Amino acid sequence: MKPVKIGICGLGTVGSGTFNVLTRNAQEISRRVGCEIIIEQVGARRDHPNCITTGINITRDIFEVAVNPDVDIVVELIGGYEVALKLVMLAIENGKHVVTANKALIAEHGNQIFAAAKKHNVIVAFESAVAGGIPIIKALREGLAANQINGIAGIINGTGNFILTEMQQKGRDFADVLAEAQALGYAEADPTFDVEGIDAAHKLTIMASIAYGIPLQFDKAYTEGIGKVTSEDVKFADELGYRIKHLGIARRTAQGIELRVHPTMIPKQTLLANVNGVMNAVLVDADAVGQTLHYGAGAGDEATASAVIADIIDIARNINSPQAVAVPPLGFQSEQLLNTPILAMDQTETGYYLHIKAAEKPGVLAAVTKILGDYGINIEAIVQKETDQDYVPVILLTQSVVEHKMNQAITTIEALDSTLGVVARIRVEHL
Ligand code: HSE
Repeated sequence: MKPVKIGICGLGTVGSGTFNVLTRNAQEISRRVGCEIIIEQVGARRDHPNCITTGINITRDIFEVAVNPDVDIVVELIGGYEVALKLVMLAIENGKHVVTANKALIAEHGNQIFAAAKKHNVIVAFESAVAGGIPIIKALREGLAANQINGIAGIINGTGNFILTEMQQKGRDFADVLAEAQALGYAEADPTFDVEGIDAAHKLTIMASIAYGIPLQFDKAYTEGIGKVTSEDVKFADELGYRIKHLGIARRTAQGIELRVHPTMIPKQTLLANVNGVMNAVLVDADAVGQTLHYGAGAGDEATASAVIADIIDIARNINSPQAVAVPPLGFQSEQLLNTPILAMDQTETGYYLHIKAAEKPGVLAAVTKILGDYGINIEAIVQKETDQDYVPVILLTQSVVEHKMNQAITTIEALDSTLGVVARIRVEHL
């Protein structure tokens, strides 16, 4: 079989990992594919100190790779939006297959990219865009294809999980842990994407489209980051038997699909609660198989390269088997995608942890519980903490309630003369 030739665009963390794993495991990979995979060209602004690129055709102009007649597969590892979109579209128009690790690109421009790929009869593969090295795209799209997916809950941002874990286990400071995550190459070029949940929302959007056969709709995902999680809440959660994790949740309901990313309290003994550091995990609840948990490194050079190369291998096999039918990018033919509505966040239902700052006055607890009762919200637990501050932290756990009711209850509680400042809230899930 003739060798398959790839062009790698971007030689940063993932690009260098891909280059090195492809080079190191070349023999084993060829044996699996049945032909050699050759790095025909690399497009990168600069060399990478960990890559020995002697003898490789290197260009500083990535667009050269997209039009190189000798390249079969363009591997887009530059990240970002505009340039990456231009590169991918140019590659597709030139009849190249594309592998990308760019979740922002797929979540926000995937519908357009997949339509172009269909028109030009090429494959666009993006396993590495979600949860780094975990083969969750293949699992959802192929391994679980027999099932109706009830829900997905994932720790899908390694940087965020690393920060929360260090806060919880070592009481470390947020900024200090973020700086370490950046130095280790986990964080995005713009780390606000990690901290504010945008990166997780990109990944969740992609998984939800595959799980439910709907177009990519990043703009409808609810996104809340970890910036407001305090070490005090981490401690109180622990005392109540919970961990705070930053989860991406997609769930099918009778009214539509929930699509949300936010800090979530989950019972300590659950598997997800014990996924720590930079590790990712995705819990899939499906009707036939039940629950499956997909765990592994969610970021890092070679872990992500593992998924990039799996895509290259898939496409190489396809190139050399002209009869092979490629799996559609979202696992459904485009005309089979549904317009199932995405639920507005205030229509979703969860339990709540509330942290209320009560003034040292009689009757505060009675007033708070009355308000919750008036909105039909059941209280599961209530604790008043001792403090040396000029207020008393009141911690409440509620049963599941639709979010718009909780919003109204919180506004009413915040307006009481006997409470101070804003009520901190963390949604609670029993997965
Ligand atoms: N910044 C991302 C993370 C990298 O921390 O998970 C992998 O997508």
